[in-house]
Amino acid sequence: MRLIDELRSEHELIEKVAGSLRTFVSQRVRDEGDHRDGERFLSFFRHYAGTFHHAREEDILLPVLVRELELPETSGPIRSLIDQHHSMAATLASVATLVSQEHLDDQEKARLVSGSNDYVRSLWQHIDAENSVLLPEAEERLKWAGVHELPDREITEEEARARDWGPDLLSLYPPLPDPEAIRGEGCVICPSHGVSCEGLEREWWTGSEWETFEGRSG
Ligand SMILES: [Fe+2]
Ligand SMILES: [Fe+2]
Repeated sequence: MRLIDELRSEHELIEKVAGSLRTFVSQRVRDEGDHRDGERFLSFFRHYAGTFHHAREEDILLPVLVRELELPETSGPIRSLIDQHHSMAATLASVATLVSQEHLDDQEKARLVSGSNDYVRSLWQHIDAENSVLLPEAEERLKWAGVHELPDREITEEEARARDWGPDLLSLYPPLPDPEAIRGEGCVICPSHGVSCEGLEREWWTGSEWETFEGRSG
């Protein structure tokens, strides 16, 4: 399904540029790097990841799951993933000034490192949860419902410009891994698991899915 394939490849770019942001921040705290690139990172994460990409999830994919599959809108994975979009946007906003600031004192450097680490780690976990749970589940369930294609939303000029900063930033600031980031597959990786969502099986599985599962495992 084209939209789902595109969301997956957008995740690949977004997660790499998140690693570049780590490299950029590690240079800025050594008073290196070009502070003006901070605006480019902000534009990429705000307009491409936070607007274009998230809007296609929130305005196209997730409403189709509610409408066609009658999955719950105000609880479980759908509510939790939308809440994560909002909390990631707030985390990014909390470090936005520091990301593009020319001169940083020691306190500001510490706030920049901690806020950008929070942002990158939550973005990676969110992408892991979508890649391993939301997208494969959506693809499979929409197939069952006979939905083979989804509408699209044109990218605006501003969003396309923001996307195009991605490859430039990747070559300027080759992504740095984060040994403290917790990554993986399945609901357990999702920060909402056990908080606002009880996991795929409890939230989405129907009686017949449980029966098939019990038949297979029993
Ligand atoms: Fe998302
Ligand atoms: Fe996503």
